[in-house]
Amino acid sequence: MWARAVCVLVCATAVVCEAVTKKFCDDVNPGVCTVHSVDVDPCPKGINFCSLYRNKPYTLSVDFTPRFSAKNLRLSMYGDDNNDGSFDKTVKTVADPCDLMTCPVDKDIPRFFNLHFTLDKTHGTAKFPVKFKLWNADNESQACCFTFNVKVKK
Ligand SMILES: *[C@@H]1O[C@H](CO)[C@@H](O)[C@H](O)[C@H]1NC(C)=O
Repeated sequence: MWARAVCVLVCATAVVCEAVTKKFCDDVNPGVCTVHSVDVDPCPKGINFCSLYRNKPYTLSVDFTPRFSAKNLRLSMYGDDNNDGSFDKTVKTVADPCDLMTCPVDKDIPRFFNLHFTLDKTHGTAKFPVKFKLWNADNESQACCFTFNVKVKK
């Protein structure tokens, strides 16, 4: 709640940060994690897709409630640059997501974090989905997973 209030405040102040439309991942049970909101800062255009430049810093903010407890987490973001559903281009991996939030995560206790990322020049200039996944290293079916669309500009 608090974290969300802070984000709303930050967004309202900065004006540029946008809540983006997210979709659940096909291969993850959506009942395992409730994702309340996803923001990208900055996200010009917004809502349906973020128009992003290569080599510029962006922040992904995620407000979620895991329906599982975990002490070992993993986090990855992949781009589906070819729009073929393969999500084979790594955007970012975080070896220890506990650096980003309070750990361990507990079932039904909300969490919030900010994740900094950039898209480099290996990413094509196209519109494609980015997949975000945070999972329990001890049980990979316990995951928070969603996709959102970006449009990459030079
Ligand atoms: C892994 O997580 C799923 C979903 O929460 C659960 O149903 C299953 O029992 C877990 N498996 C183990 C070995 O804990």
